[in-house]
Amino acid sequence: MRTVHTLKELRAIVRSYRDQGKRVGLVPTMGSLHDGHLALVRRALEAADVVVTSIFVNPMQFGAGEDLDSYPRTLTDDQRKLGAEGNTLLFAPPVSEVYPDGLAHQTRIVVPEVSDGHCGASRPGHFEGVATVVAMLFNMVQPDIAVFGEKDFQQLAVIRKMVRDLFLPVDVIGMPTVREEDGLAMSSRNGYLTEAERQQAPALYRVLSRTGDALTAGSDDFAGLEAAAREILTSEGFRPDYFNIVNSLTLKPASPGDRQITILAAAFLGTTRLIDNLSIER
Ligand code: PAF
Repeated sequence: MRTVHTLKELRAIVRSYRDQGKRVGLVPTMGSLHDGHLALVRRALEAADVVVTSIFVNPMQFGAGEDLDSYPRTLTDDQRKLGAEGNTLLFAPPVSEVYPDGLAHQTRIVVPEVSDGHCGASRPGHFEGVATVVAMLFNMVQPDIAVFGEKDFQQLAVIRKMVRDLFLPVDVIGMPTVREEDGLAMSSRNGYLTEAERQQAPALYRVLSRTGDALTAGSDDFAGLEAAAREILTSEGFRPDYFNIVNSLTLKPASPGDRQITILAAAFLGTTRLIDNLSIER
């Protein structure tokens, strides 16, 4: 597998794929790859002839005081894992390649409504950073398809809306969350957890599952379920950020008539912020 760091090299290689009539897939990541990312690559390889995975820790989507500097950067390991999956090309640009004029001068993309609330409320500017860099990666690679994980449920909704609203010629594919055996959603940030926190962490998915069961059984007491979930999470050692039962399409608070419902949750264990979600149909 080849690795390139510049847009010039990327464009030349992708042009040669196109000249050969190949269908191009893109898997945007921030690296520190785990099995969840590799499942995205495998899915992209099913849907495309060649797959470009990008690794870019995007400064625009991190707020002040967040983990931009400490975010794990494990390029050699990531190259080995991608090579073993049969990924075709790794694009790992430095910040100066993506934002040559600096962040302050960068054109940005704002995706209204679905970016509001949940992670958008807790991390102001986060989804603007995500939408902007994903649109840039789409323009750099010009893929036919792009694959994203459903673990970042709101992020996927933001990207889908951006693609729809801007008529971007990319098919966005969502992939179910990959979990550890104890239910914890795989995340590059799980590595921040202490051993004791790692033992506590699966409680987040247990609480999501319990709430999902109550919703599937017909409960419409959304506020009561949210409050109970926050209470259990607190008793399990978390500091809940949000626990919201929403309409899966609008991400607005769920109404009793909604058939597709998603529970979105974020909670801190120590200094680590974990997010997860669960969707149900009824
Ligand atoms: O999900 C991520 O890893 C990032 O938010 C993404 C989509 C690669 C944009 O930087």
